[in-house]
Amino acid sequence: MNRNFIFVFILLATLSIVNAIPLQKRATVFGKCPPIPDLPTQPEEISVSISPDPVVPGQTDTFTVSGTLSKEITNEYKLVIALANLSGKVYAAYVEDMPPTKPNTPFNVVKTESIPEDLPQSYAIGVGVTTLTNPPDVIGCALAVVGASSSNIASYPIP
Ligand SMILES: *[C@@H]1O[C@H](CO)[C@@H](O)[C@H](O)[C@H]1NC(C)=O
Repeated sequence: MNRNFIFVFILLATLSIVNAIPLQKRATVFGKCPPIPDLPTQPEEISVSISPDPVVPGQTDTFTVSGTLSKEITNEYKLVIALANLSGKVYAAYVEDMPPTKPNTPFNVVKTESIPEDLPQSYAIGVGVTTLTNPPDVIGCALAVVGASSSNIASYPIP
């Protein structure tokens, strides 16, 4: 199946209720993802910090992703990082292996990725620990929305 489906699925689902998420103008603050419609299990929150913060279009950024999930992270699960505008148009999506991790055991992954030059002023960064299946099994998730005023995105349709 098309990997892009996963990213779009996650981002659209979360952006559909993005009004509930505080918007930041300077630092990028990651929070829990809203419930994702139609998923059997809702993802647990993971921690993400980025450097530089905020991301700089056209430069690399280092993502430090950590957390402790109650589910085992097997080889099937990948780290997915996606940047999208607030309609869910995906500007960049990265897929990385996760270290196999037993349940309730901390993990920490550091990845450096290129930020697209054409990233708009208002954007979302979604980070998930997920299978690349349809539907995805998203066991860990974090979302940041940067640079927007919520009135711009009030009418986003629920997928
Ligand atoms: C996101 O990008 C798409 C395609 O370029 C565009 O049609 C849409 O208006 C953009 N959404 C926002 C909120 O800027």
